[in-house]
Amino acid sequence: MHLLLIHGGHGGGRTAAMVTAVVEGIEEAADELDCRVKSALDAGVEDLLWAQGLLIGTPEHFGYMSGAVKDFMDRTYYPVEGRVEGLPYALFVSAGNDGTGAVNSIERIALGFRWKRVAEPLIVRGDLKPEDLQRCRELGQTFAAGLAYGVF
Ligand SMILES: Cc1cc2nc3c(=O)[nH]c(=O)nc-3n(C[C@H](O)[C@H](O)[C@H](O)COP(=O)(O)O)c2cc1C
Repeated sequence: MHLLLIHGGHGGGRTAAMVTAVVEGIEEAADELDCRVKSALDAGVEDLLWAQGLLIGTPEHFGYMSGAVKDFMDRTYYPVEGRVEGLPYALFVSAGNDGTGAVNSIERIALGFRWKRVAEPLIVRGDLKPEDLQRCRELGQTFAAGLAYGVF
């Protein structure tokens, strides 16, 4: 099975730390999964058509998803139209004090792509604590196991 993880945020930031923890969880749960991890700026149509599951990680910027993730959606929407319906997805957000704007903006556009949300969005506010990283690992585990064992 093919899992695509795309992320916004800058290298070395909080979103990047969440990505690392989510990937640890994926590898713990299902190491036979083929997992591509890419900056949303480097990901495109071919990646999305390859994917059988999609994880999106983003910081919240101005009450919205990061520009990088929005750019990915803008570039891929029409080229994949009608070919990614039902794609299982989940998302995680790093925010200063909110995060709901990022979640709402992604979920609204995901409806347009007709992706299927298979986990509650994970929002971490402020600095990452060990329990937040554990929640990231658990998201990765749950998503990977669901994909590998055909639950979605
Ligand atoms: C340009 C910009 C806009 C931001 N807007 C919001 C916001 O609307 N809501 C919020 O809770 N945090 C906001 N933040 C804070 C970031 O979401 C937060 O610091 C996040 O952890 C950054 O993740 P990163 O280290 O991966 O970049 C903003 C940060 C920046 C740089």
